[in-house]
Amino acid sequence: MLEVARETYPEVDFREGHLEALPVDDASCDVVTSALAVCHAPDLDVVFEEFARVLRPGGTLVVSDPHPSTVTLGGVAGFRDPDADPTEGFTMPFVPNLHHPMHTYVNAAVAAGLEIVECREPTFPDSGLEANPAYAVLPDAVRQAFGGLPFVVVWRMRKPG
Ligand SMILES: C[S@@+](CC[C@H](N)C(=O)[O-])C[C@H]1O[C@@H](n2cnc3c(N)ncnc32)[C@H](O)[C@@H]1O
Repeated sequence: MLEVARETYPEVDFREGHLEALPVDDASCDVVTSALAVCHAPDLDVVFEEFARVLRPGGTLVVSDPHPSTVTLGGVAGFRDPDADPTEGFTMPFVPNLHHPMHTYVNAAVAAGLEIVECREPTFPDSGLEANPAYAVLPDAVRQAFGGLPFVVVWRMRKPG
């Protein structure tokens, strides 16, 4: 991802690091975004402490993650071969998502001194249902099981100041 990003935007300073120790100075960011990554970190307290550390006072944090209910139902970061035919059987490498209940995001944010401005829980779009490997053989069951359920959680927070 970094290779592609650096080729596409050579003027941007991309840095590799860990959520638990961001390679960024204290109070140096107007905006911090994290997309679908916090679900891989075991301790949200440490991660939100880092987000708060690098934000300047008045700065904004936007975090998306797979919704905890999706994770409970077995949602993973899967890498399916787009040419594989699910009706013929296939294997799918995946990275597991960790289950972080909603209160753990709230408590981690509060402990880090962040204000929660907004929380959204968008439901599965049709494309999300159709991407489920089971959809190829049991489309009605997949719609019945996942349709209308929250797919991701998106938080908007602010560092006071
Ligand atoms: C599902 S991908 C999302 C990638 C990208 N943000 C996007 O939305 O397309 C999850 C990413 O989290 C990264 N990741 C997992 N644990 C991490 C950690 N502790 N610190 C930093 N990155 C981590 C993985 O390397 C991977 O790139």
